[in-house]
Amino acid sequence: EEESPTLPVTQQQQQQQQQQAPPTTPETPRATNPVLNFFANIIQRKATLVSRTAEWKRLQKHAEYIQTTHLRQLMQDAVRSEALYATHDGVYLDYSRQRVTVETMKLLGDLAKRQDLRGKIEAMFRGDKINFTEDRAVLHTALRASRSKIGTVLVDEDVDAIQEVHDVLDQIKVFTNGVRSGQLRGYTGKRLRNIVSVGIGGSYLGPEFVHECLKTEPEGITAALGYNLRFLSNVDPVDVERTCADLDPEETLIVIVSKTFTTAETMLNAKTMRQWLWDFMGNDPEVVEKHMVACASISAIEKVKDFGIDTENYFFRFWDWVGGRYSVCSAAGAVPISLLYGFELFEKFLRGAESMDDHFRNDPIEKNIPIIMGLLGVWNMSFLNYKSRTTLPYAEALLKLPAHIQQLDMESNGKTVTKNGTPVDYAVGEIDFGEAGTNGQHSFYQLLHMGQTVPCDFIGFCESQHDYCVDGESLSSHDELMANFFAQPDALATGKTADEVREDGELNEDVVAHRVFEGNRPSLSLLFPKLTAYACGQILALYEHRTTVQGFLWDINSFDQFGVELGKKLALNVKEQMLEGRSTGKRVDTGDHATTRLLNYYLESSNN
Ligand code: F6P
Repeated sequence: EEESPTLPVTQQQQQQQQQQAPPTTPETPRATNPVLNFFANIIQRKATLVSRTAEWKRLQKHAEYIQTTHLRQLMQDAVRSEALYATHDGVYLDYSRQRVTVETMKLLGDLAKRQDLRGKIEAMFRGDKINFTEDRAVLHTALRASRSKIGTVLVDEDVDAIQEVHDVLDQIKVFTNGVRSGQLRGYTGKRLRNIVSVGIGGSYLGPEFVHECLKTEPEGITAALGYNLRFLSNVDPVDVERTCADLDPEETLIVIVSKTFTTAETMLNAKTMRQWLWDFMGNDPEVVEKHMVACASISAIEKVKDFGIDTENYFFRFWDWVGGRYSVCSAAGAVPISLLYGFELFEKFLRGAESMDDHFRNDPIEKNIPIIMGLLGVWNMSFLNYKSRTTLPYAEALLKLPAHIQQLDMESNGKTVTKNGTPVDYAVGEIDFGEAGTNGQHSFYQLLHMGQTVPCDFIGFCESQHDYCVDGESLSSHDELMANFFAQPDALATGKTADEVREDGELNEDVVAHRVFEGNRPSLSLLFPKLTAYACGQILALYEHRTTVQGFLWDINSFDQFGVELGKKLALNVKEQMLEGRSTGKRVDTGDHATTRLLNYYLESSNN
């Protein structure tokens, strides 16, 4: 609009000034001063951190009280102890030995509301692209959704995720039944009785955990008779040797599990296994077609085809909306597990996981086992400052659970920035480790009792997969094992005072201090009826959801893993230098002083 010529000069000037004046909004420094802009940005972003919320601050204040209160004291409160447990579908969680009160749980619940935990869980189940750094949905829950849920989850606008899942499961059922019935045979007509699953990380640890669970499960034993399953993950040639030295290639089916079909370790192992087949049976294309199978993302199909695998019949797809470490219920686990144990048993495993999913999605926070465990994780890590955590299954068949959780959780929550890229100013991402009880008791429990405080997850079963009652023993072997399951949490929580040591008859005062247990060490106990395929599914989903809850509360993206990229990239550079060193026989220079020195030492000392 034109200026009015009738305006007095002063007013006109004023108006001009106003028009030209920079806006008085907070953007002012941004537009004009990059330094101020930089700091304003930081301040604004910091203000979005969950640690700035009233709910977080209330928890910090409350933590001061808890820090001065011993678990012995807390556990005397019967009302508190009665309140701190939850059950669902046979799973019993007792968390009365956590350093929490009913008030703590209420405050953690407030934090969950503040962080819209429910909304985030819903967004995940619905298929929203919550893995925003990779623009992907996170739908491992769709992998175990029953047929009745078909049509409820759409991805990329019109793809019915659960229908897709069932199409592939049907294909896996037909294929694995075909192999197990002898209808599908190897190149020379022999039955395929050995399965070698080649994969690494999420394409290995979860399936191996399930395999170990089912190995001694009565139904599993019967189903697996006559077959055997091995995993090849490490790119170390010794792993190849250990895996297939005593196998007959004519009876071996190799399952390549790789979402991307590019992972260096898996690809080299796949080629090594292909060479192994060729060495025994010649390199007729049919050898690979009849002895090699791929489980990979649909986007990798061309690579699978180029490798020589029959993509019409021996390719089992999964999708970008399934993260590697969350892929156990996809073809990654379904193919090797069903080949060994039959598809029906794998289905029972899926139903167990689905039961936990439904509980997680629908039940109120105060009764919701995965949510409670996630809240406790955040409490222990971010408020009580316990940086590590241990998984202690009192079941030999769960021996691979700690390794699976280690990858699941540490790859998911080992992050330093929130969704909008702001560095967190609170502790996130525990160091997870563990061991089947009671072996751990004779290994690292000394530290658990007397060294650093490490929150513990004790996992036990009312009934064993197998039990014995040895002559002369009044209790069964399983009872003996479980006595430890019940005793250890108590010892950790209550400890033993100097007076109690003396009461025990310790007369040498110099030794008393060495025998004192300070106690006050938090743990939780999970008790299941029996370690079946169904329970295995429940455990898998429970721990997946715990990880997710913690990520949601911390406001980090638990579904990407850029942290593994840099090392992979540097390994490529090193490989180039190695090649140069080997072919020229001259010293190489990687650009890094220490690596250069070490690499040249390696090249000079080995004669590959
Ligand atoms: O370790 C990193 C990782 O990307 C995992 O997340 C993944 O499970 C693993 O590598 C293997 O990847 P892929 O299945 O693509 O071979």
